[in-house]
Amino acid sequence: MVKIDLKNLKVEARKEIKKTDNLKDLDEIFKKYLGKKGEITRIFNSLKKLSPKERKKLGEGANLVKREVEEMTKERAKELQEELRKQKIEKEKIDVTRPGKKLEIGHLHPLTLVQREVEEIFQSMGFSVIIGPEIETEWYNFDALNIPKDHPARDMWDTFWLRNNQKIPNPKSQIPNKSQILNFKSQKLLLRTHTSPVQVRYMEKHQPPLRIIVPGRCFRHEATDASHEIQFYQLEGLVVDKDISAANFKAIIEEFLKRFFKTDIEIRLRPSFFPFTEPSFEIDIRRKKGKWVETMGAGMVHPKVFEAAGLNPKNWQGFAFGAGLDRLAMLKYKINDIRLFYQGDLRFLKQF
Ligand code: DAH
Repeated sequence: MVKIDLKNLKVEARKEIKKTDNLKDLDEIFKKYLGKKGEITRIFNSLKKLSPKERKKLGEGANLVKREVEEMTKERAKELQEELRKQKIEKEKIDVTRPGKKLEIGHLHPLTLVQREVEEIFQSMGFSVIIGPEIETEWYNFDALNIPKDHPARDMWDTFWLRNNQKIPNPKSQIPNKSQILNFKSQKLLLRTHTSPVQVRYMEKHQPPLRIIVPGRCFRHEATDASHEIQFYQLEGLVVDKDISAANFKAIIEEFLKRFFKTDIEIRLRPSFFPFTEPSFEIDIRRKKGKWVETMGAGMVHPKVFEAAGLNPKNWQGFAFGAGLDRLAMLKYKINDIRLFYQGDLRFLKQF
């Protein structure tokens, strides 16, 4: 019979078991010794061919080795499982001291940025910031501003007219009070084409002296192109006192433009016409002897406008101006198309 070296078998098994680094291999090794055709199993199977004495001796020895191999396998399995657990914990460990992932948050729209900057400059010069309704009556948008009934601005093609049964928008986001809302109902409504109506609304309620700016959205029913949109933002200005002249206007507006564009700029007043100012002018600006760019309309408040607001034109004089906020933003940031402001294109917006 073949001499079976149980001692060697045990040493071999221990070596192999110790060397394994994963549970699958460990299982293979276990089967190699104690599986159906395993080496130790084979010893047990061969016992019946032996004499009782030999059987007892080899049987006992083999049993001992079997138990030891089982024991060692169990131990190693435990060790390997513990290692796996540690690796997993290591992998899942959270380092709370590492810098966090930056959340992408939005920021203010370029027009809002420009509006706030403009407001700050004027506030520092003693102006109050006033807002008015985007839905206006024909009276405030046109008549009170001395714009005659047959003026082309009143044309269907320049103004968005609303049906009279149109609901008044949420009064909280607008300025009108109860009586104005009632007034609305009896009047033709429209989307304001400029911020100038707020001049009259404000003077009805406030005695001069006064100094206000009115930023806000306006609407025109017209074809869009690089410099025209159906909605845009204006900045209205109004200063009324006993003794206000065009020279005051020029000084204020020059100061504003210098601070806004943060460079020395030249301004030029050209005679112009607006029904609500007399005289009227157009203001052009240029930087570094460049091209003159038209930026706003302005003039001395027309007596008819004072009258519409219930003020005696003999007692008061003042100047008013209306600038395109989009226009100012475009000049400042060298933007060549007004439509970019309203398209929500992140490639554009992220630059501000
Ligand atoms: N409301 C005018 C417009 O939309 C701009 C304007 C011109 C406003 C002269 C004024 C002004 O206050 O005095 O074209």
